Amino acid sequence: MKEKLEKAKKIIKENNQEHLLQKYDELNETNKEELLDEILDLDFKQISELYSNTNKEFKYDNNKIKPINYVDKSKLDKATKEMYDKIGLEKIKNGKLAVLTMAGGQGTRLGHNGPKGTYDLGLSSHKSIFEILCDTLKDAQKRYGIYVNWYIMTSKENNKATVDFFETNNYFGYPKDKIIFFKQGRLPMVGEDGKILLDENGMIKLAADGHGGVFESMDRENIIKDMLEKSIEWVFIGGVDNVLVKMVDPTIIGLAETKNVLAAGKSVVKANPQEKVGVFCRRDNKPSVIEYSEISKEMSEATDENGELIYGESHILCNLFNIKAIQEISKKKLPYHAAHKKTNYLDRNNNIVKAESPNAFKFEAFLFDAFESLDDMAIMRVKREEEFAPVKNAEGVDSPETARKLYKAFFKL
Ligand code: UTP
Repeated sequence: MKEKLEKAKKIIKENNQEHLLQKYDELNETNKEELLDEILDLDFKQISELYSNTNKEFKYDNNKIKPINYVDKSKLDKATKEMYDKIGLEKIKNGKLAVLTMAGGQGTRLGHNGPKGTYDLGLSSHKSIFEILCDTLKDAQKRYGIYVNWYIMTSKENNKATVDFFETNNYFGYPKDKIIFFKQGRLPMVGEDGKILLDENGMIKLAADGHGGVFESMDRENIIKDMLEKSIEWVFIGGVDNVLVKMVDPTIIGLAETKNVLAAGKSVVKANPQEKVGVFCRRDNKPSVIEYSEISKEMSEATDENGELIYGESHILCNLFNIKAIQEISKKKLPYHAAHKKTNYLDRNNNIVKAESPNAFKFEAFLFDAFESLDDMAIMRVKREEEFAPVKNAEGVDSPETARKLYKAFFKL
């Protein structure tokens, strides 16, 4: 330990982050060791680069953006739909599909005290979001005769609460060995002066590294290995907060197989050109997502000869990846985006600073940045009222109230 301490002292001095050990002497032995390990593990160069990028303005080049082809699921002719479904069903029944739910987010906008998946949607059944998702897998079991493997990505902060919730609820009647939890990665938060923050206990303030961290975490936590051992070929990766998500969908698997691509994404058409959502596009001829903050007014309003928005396919975090694509992406570094956040931290005098406005930077990778590693992907437009009911905000748009309404309408409750 003494050796570790000396090493850590040297590293933080070299990197101008000497305050990281300011509370060291007051920590218990376990935390002392953990703090030293974290310091020795930190990539200080990366953090300093991420911090320097926070004051660089991103310049987007809309000339590099082109529309992407998509198919509308509801407009597929009968023979094509049947062909896709047959291929997809074959894969599902043979255990070639796994589903993965990303549940490592903080859910700050919803403000629920606990992991978002444990939130009671307010149905008369009082089902939590996790149970609602599990229902779709139980339904798939009835239809296809197979319990699909369900991987759940948590964060260090919410892992225990998530696993305990499943345990208390007896895994909602789903076979326990078919549900695998794993933790995503973390990055330190940095103050406006570029100093790494300490949390209220004097430990490094770490935060989940964004949903784009899923690929790297799958590699690090041996999830890819586990999937390969189970001969899984396709993985549906979605967020935890869409209560109409259709995780086991033969059509999209058949579409991806037929088009010979390694990934596919579901889209819903934008509610209106100004809607604040990212849309699928091609960027430098690679599949991509253009964010609402990047797209010009002209582009967002442009329509084709049928009056359809050219950039109208919203990315809803419902994507299918071939295991080969996951293997490849997991070895690459996705870019991190800085978010200016409100956070409490320990100042240099060991006083807790309570944030009233954004005062720190959090760094997150976005899943859709992975699309650019692929030559092509298939996009399938689905109906919003059938597959998209997000729970994001405590009230107003995309809130439990709107999601509950959509859920009840779909299931005719
Ligand atoms: P959001 O972007 O909505 O973030 O995540 P959030 O953390 O849930 O909510 P806010 O922004 O704090 O209110 C979309 C999906 O990605 C997952 C979330 O759990 C959600 O399913 N996610 C997000 C992760 O798994 N890890 C992350 O680091 C971020």
